[in-house]
Amino acid sequence: MSYLAVKHAHMMFALISITLFMLRAWLAVPSPARINNKLLKILPHVNDTLLLALGVWLAVQSQQIPFGNSPWLTAKVIGLVLYIVIGTLAIKRGKTRGQRLGAALASIAIFAYIYGAAVSKSPLSWLAL
Ligand code: HEM
Repeated sequence: MSYLAVKHAHMMFALISITLFMLRAWLAVPSPARINNKLLKILPHVNDTLLLALGVWLAVQSQQIPFGNSPWLTAKVIGLVLYIVIGTLAIKRGKTRGQRLGAALASIAIFAYIYGAAVSKSPLSWLAL
C-alpha cells in the first residue's frame, strides 16, 4: 500500500470526522434526542475507527512513536482522547444546553489543535507554522 495514499485517506477521514461531529452537535445541543437517525449514530464510529487505524498504520510505517520519539504524535493522541471525551459531553452527556454548547465549541477547538499539530509536526500546532 502506498504511504501517501494512506496518508490522504487518513486526512479525508479526519475531515469527515469533524463534519459528522458538527452535524451531530448542531442537532444535539438543543436536545440530544434529536439525533434519531441510525446512520448518524453508526457512521461516525466506523469513520473514526478507520481514522485511528490508518493513523496507527502511518505511525508504525514511519517509525514515529507517541510517548516515544514523537512529541507531535503524543500531542495528537492526548488531543484525540480529549476530542472523544468532550465530544460525548456535547452530544450525549451534557446536562444543560449551555454545557453541550460549551463542550461542542471546545471539541471543535481541540480538533483544530490536532490538525495543526499534524500539519506542523509540533505540539505547538498552528503556532509553529
Ligand atoms: C482527530 C484525529 C486526527 C486528525 C485530525 C489527524 C490529522 C492528520 C493530518 C491532517 C495529517 C497530514 C499532515 C500533513 O502531512 O500535512 C496526518 C498525518 C498523520 N497522522 Fe493523523 N490525525 C488524527 C489522528 C491520528 C492518530 C490517532 C495517529 C496515530 C496514533 C495519527 C498519526 C498520523 C501519522 C503518523 C501521520 C503521517 C505524517 C506524515 O507522514 O507526514 N493521526 N494526520
